[in-house]
Amino acid sequence: MEGKRDSWGNNFGFLMAAIGSAVGLGNIWGFPYKMGANGGFAFLIVYLALAVLIGFTVMLGELTIGRKSGKGAVGAYVALSKHFKWVGWLGALSAFLIMSFYSVLGGYCLKYMVLNFGDLINASFGSAGQNGGDIFGALLTNQAESIMYTLFFMIISCAIVMGGIAGGIEKFSKFAMPALFVLLVIVIVRSVTLDGAMDGLAFMFKPNIEPLKKDFLGVLSSASGQMFFSLSLGMAIMITYGSYLPKKENLERNSFIIIFSDTFIAILAGLAVIPAAFALGGEGAALAGPKLLYITLQNVFAAMGSIGPLIGVLFYLLVAIAAITSAISLIETTVTFFMDSAESKGGSGNRKVIAFIVSLIIMAEATLVAADGLGSNGLWVPFQKSFGVHGWNDCWLDFMDVMSEGIMMPLGALLMCLFIGYEYGIKKFGEEITIAGFPFRSEAFFSLCCRYIAPIGLAFVLWGQLKNFGIV
Ligand code: TRP
Repeated sequence: MEGKRDSWGNNFGFLMAAIGSAVGLGNIWGFPYKMGANGGFAFLIVYLALAVLIGFTVMLGELTIGRKSGKGAVGAYVALSKHFKWVGWLGALSAFLIMSFYSVLGGYCLKYMVLNFGDLINASFGSAGQNGGDIFGALLTNQAESIMYTLFFMIISCAIVMGGIAGGIEKFSKFAMPALFVLLVIVIVRSVTLDGAMDGLAFMFKPNIEPLKKDFLGVLSSASGQMFFSLSLGMAIMITYGSYLPKKENLERNSFIIIFSDTFIAILAGLAVIPAAFALGGEGAALAGPKLLYITLQNVFAAMGSIGPLIGVLFYLLVAIAAITSAISLIETTVTFFMDSAESKGGSGNRKVIAFIVSLIIMAEATLVAADGLGSNGLWVPFQKSFGVHGWNDCWLDFMDVMSEGIMMPLGALLMCLFIGYEYGIKKFGEEITIAGFPFRSEAFFSLCCRYIAPIGLAFVLWGQLKNFGIV
């Protein structure tokens, strides 16, 4: 089987693809707003603990299962497991739900790119001196415009998936990712030197665990969902990526590098957004929820003076590219699922047709999320009644987000840990890791996390979510 299957050109290429999938809107949009809404420092330490104890376990688990089986998520579980054969499809379904709002958020980035370009050339489609809150409010209630940008984002992503992951996008990411890093640093410098930014820094880094005492389960489930989402875990993308990884590569080290880079970028994004939110809007501003990124950064660019629009155009362009590299891996997951099932029935799937149909269906659900405008247009209200009112579900985006990163991804990860820890066995698992002579350094740690810490932690996470639903 191995001979037939493609491999990554080299380990660097693999890392860039894996990091390209991991670094996206989760880091730049999700992390700052969740940290803001969940007590700053308290959220940060819970997040880091989860990344070490559960993130590493699941990352290494997925990459290893993938390389061992040489198959994508669905095929991997079918090949290796007796009791968990069906776990793969959970991933395909979460990817599909995530895309419903990922494309909307990606569309907003395109809109902001255009807006800043308007400012740059003094055109009528610039910000016209409005503040971030008004600009975003106007976009959310303009359904036609929101839908247009969403579809535009989907068309770009779909075109790339249909063409196969061409060398172009990979080469592109090699420049785009480092460039994004540089721009983040520029934005951070402006953000932390604004008057009042120190309060934001204290909020992020000054030890304060009060929020944990108030609502531990709430912070835990929010940080856990964020971790899965940001690391592209719990829905099998890394299984697929691992399946293309040659036996001579070090799985442990690669897992570590991916997690480290992704977390680093998330914290940088926090530094770019949270101090600025405090400086420009006071403490309450950091609580803006999913709107935070789009409101605050626009205000930061405005505070930069005449160079602001230029930085704005570049910044949103790079965020859009990061979002596209992630979106591709999400669409791929669903496409691979259908290709695999066509193959297992003895046929062969037509990649272009499948990618096109999947994208059309995603566009339909994304249109709903875009038209809802983060709840501004009230499309969720009729459903709110049937589910009862529970904080989380005040818009379509939240609903899709909680279903995927809140429930299905932790569930998928929990099942994977049970599979490796109790059915497949740590010993056999270790054989794949040491196959090229690397030691399995973290074996004892991995075994402890995989068999006990992660399953128990994830059970708490799921319980926290059910409580949010009002089910328990
Ligand atoms: N990790 C990406 C982000 O932070 C989103 C993403 C891409 C993803 N592929 C994924 C999340 C697979 C879960 C699974 O924006």
